[in-house]
Amino acid sequence: MYRFLGAGHETTSTLLTWTLYILSQNERVVKKLREEIATVMGDSNEFGIGELEKLTYMSHVFKEVFRMFPPVSIVARRTTCETKLGEYTLPAKVYFVYYNKIIGY
Ligand code: HEM
Repeated sequence: MYRFLGAGHETTSTLLTWTLYILSQNERVVKKLREEIATVMGDSNEFGIGELEKLTYMSHVFKEVFRMFPPVSIVARRTTCETKLGEYTLPAKVYFVYYNKIIGY
């Protein structure tokens, strides 16, 4: 139950909240999104996976919001063997955390 409430709901609502905030500050982006939606939808009211896949600019907007404000900012992992991470070498069987927000900058 926690997974669907915590993992599924809070992450999605955080992403949407930041997206709406970013859009409220970027009229130009809102205009481009509206144009893309109008082009993809035309006169149709039917919206499905096919239409969703064509909204490439919208996808880029979400990815940028993910980068700027990752809903899950800290992730923990454990190495199973010696692992190279860029210029760092982590020994086997250690726990480490990484901060998504820093990686995105
Ligand atoms: C913007 C939306 C979402 C983001 C940013 C997000 C992010 C993440 C991240 C980073 C993990 C890995 C955590 C870790 O391994 O330490 C994860 C795992 C997971 N997420 Fe999401 N998630 C999102 C939406 C959802 C939704 C909608 C659901 C379910 C309806 C969901 C269910 C899960 C579950 C069950 C796991 C654990 C998977 C496993 O342990 O193998 N997530 N999510």
